[in-house]
Amino acid sequence: MQSVRHALATSLGLPLVFVWLTGCAESPPSQEGAGRTEQVGVADDLLLASAKVALPPPGIGPADLPDPDSDGAQHVRQYCTACHALASPQSHSATDWPTVLRRMWLRIDRVPARFSVPVPTAAERVVMLRYLLDNALSVSRAELPSGPGRNVYTAMCGRCHELPDPRQHSRDDWPAVVIRMREHSVQMLGESPPQSEIQAVILYLERASRLGAT
Ligand code: HEC
Ligand code: HEC
Repeated sequence: MQSVRHALATSLGLPLVFVWLTGCAESPPSQEGAGRTEQVGVADDLLLASAKVALPPPGIGPADLPDPDSDGAQHVRQYCTACHALASPQSHSATDWPTVLRRMWLRIDRVPARFSVPVPTAAERVVMLRYLLDNALSVSRAELPSGPGRNVYTAMCGRCHELPDPRQHSRDDWPAVVIRMREHSVQMLGESPPQSEIQAVILYLERASRLGAT
């Protein structure tokens, strides 16, 4: 098998390399060549830039974690701050956390050893998953109350996490939460929704928090 693969590589690869080399030799620093080198650089920049979009925003301290002395909170503090700011358990619903964590495990496991990123054991991963699920964002499974602003709410508040349950905050508490979300939008997405839409969402939530699901 090995030798077959080797033979294939030789028969297919060498002529290609040869063609490529002669191509290069015939047309030294051509525009195409320069474009190719540049593209490699752009791709690295692009990867880094895209990885930095919508990272957990700064500002969550260890003391902000629910149940801060629990094993779950301690592991999250220990293992989730090597690459970016501490993520709040409420930044995702219980439905979404397993998928996000699966990406994080891959990165933690595969990032080059020279970065010395602490690697949790399988048991610690289970504790962290349970902790994040237990303290996740509360989502409305029932139909959202109708009313003006509902469409703006659906569009604006489901971008970074699932749509939150309008009943989880009182009428008096919603404005401050929405203003904090506007700050997250600036930090995580580099833009703020228009003030008119913010106002429409606040009015919708103030109303929906009282109405409950219909
Ligand atoms: C090895 C580096 C690394 C570690 C350690 C790490 N992350 Fe991440 N995290 C990333 C990178 C890179 C991204 C951006 C790309 C992406 O979203 O997958 C990211 C993005 C995120 C996001 C925002 C993306 C989204 O889907 O909301 C959350 C939330 C997050 N990480 C949570 C965690 C948690 C919780 C832990 C600890 C279990 C953790 N991270 C540990 C590298 C890391
Ligand atoms: C730019 C990303 C982003 C957008 C857009 C966003 N959120 Fe969030 N949301 C977060 C992050 C990050 C957290 C966790 C940190 C925190 O609680 O501030 C969070 C947490 C929450 C929480 C749980 C915390 C609490 O105080 O109850 C609620 C509720 C919430 N968001 C509601 C909303 C609403 C309503 C909107 C639309 C106005 C919205 N979010 C839009 C990123 C976002």
